[in-house]
Amino acid sequence: MAADKVLIIGSNGQIGLELAENLRKVYGENNVVCSDVRMLENQIAPFELLDILDVQRLHEIVKKHQITQVYLLAALLSATAEKNPKFAWELNMNGLFHVLDMAKEGIIKKIYWPSSIAVFGPTTPRVHTPQYTIMEPNTIYGISKQAGERYSEYYHQKYGVDVRSIRYPGLIGWKSAPGGGTTDYAVHIYHEALKHQKYECFLSAETTLPMMYMEDAIRATIDLMEAPAEKVKIRSAYNVAGISFNPEEIAASIRKHIPNFSISYQPDFRQAIADSWPQSIDDTRAREDWGWQPKYDLDKMTAVMLENIK
Ligand code: NAD
Ligand code: SER
Repeated sequence: MAADKVLIIGSNGQIGLELAENLRKVYGENNVVCSDVRMLENQIAPFELLDILDVQRLHEIVKKHQITQVYLLAALLSATAEKNPKFAWELNMNGLFHVLDMAKEGIIKKIYWPSSIAVFGPTTPRVHTPQYTIMEPNTIYGISKQAGERYSEYYHQKYGVDVRSIRYPGLIGWKSAPGGGTTDYAVHIYHEALKHQKYECFLSAETTLPMMYMEDAIRATIDLMEAPAEKVKIRSAYNVAGISFNPEEIAASIRKHIPNFSISYQPDFRQAIADSWPQSIDDTRAREDWGWQPKYDLDKMTAVMLENIK
């Protein structure tokens, strides 16, 4: 059987850079093709410039590299999407349609497309949010992710498309910068703590959100994609949980390493987005169906983040 060939779309973003590194270990360097609308100075190869809205170019690249699996990461995140809602809808939805249709036509075999905790909204139970619950997102990002989940499940049920997804919480890593989300503060805070021993947070002290260390998120992603199809019983997107904390708690964790670190608060428009999201997530189904287990708690993540950014 020919080896799987993977295309990552949006490979130069926060998740893509770390995902590419790990997928290259699984499938071999030449079997993972990175693509993005922008090229980096130290771009890893193989790489193709691709705007996911250009469906013809997408077909060319898939054909040229005989791609079997696509990881679709290109999207506008929550904060950026609120500033340009029409374009956010166009990018987040049409990108997904292009890839789903390729799988429907049998050109590719498997798709990974990330959803988000943003699919939940202000009427959702906020603590230990269940897999199945009220979902009335009130951000354009959350609306696009929820619609994407419904389309993914529809394509699976109607056309047998093997599409898999996780509702990522806020992701925190040291190897790449976050790309315009509401949870970005939990990455910036570590950089500012090391540089200036202080941080002004755009969310209020008590804003608890579900978060996850990037290494856990990448492992969840690859485990889900490697799981036998019959174990992947949810084809909208799986809840996965890592750590839940608020800015006060992450600051306290940082003070264990940098005792004079101080945090101040200047909430902006992102506060309303955060207030509409869960505080913690029930991920029983991911644990039962494909064995999900997080490895990092807040203090373990803080130690690794500070050590590596330093
Ligand atoms: P990011 O913004 O850091 O990266 C997105 C990448 O896509 C960028 O490199 C960008 O250049 C590229 N891109 C943008 N428009 C493109 C286009 N038209 N064609 C091709 N590439 C394009 O985002 P990320 O944090 O890596 O997120 C990736 C995915 O994961 C998104 O779908 C996001 O919604 C989802 N997600 C992320 C988080 C998180 O905390 N990072 C949480 C939940 C869900
Ligand atoms: N981290 C993402 C955001 O804040 C959640 O999907 O937009």
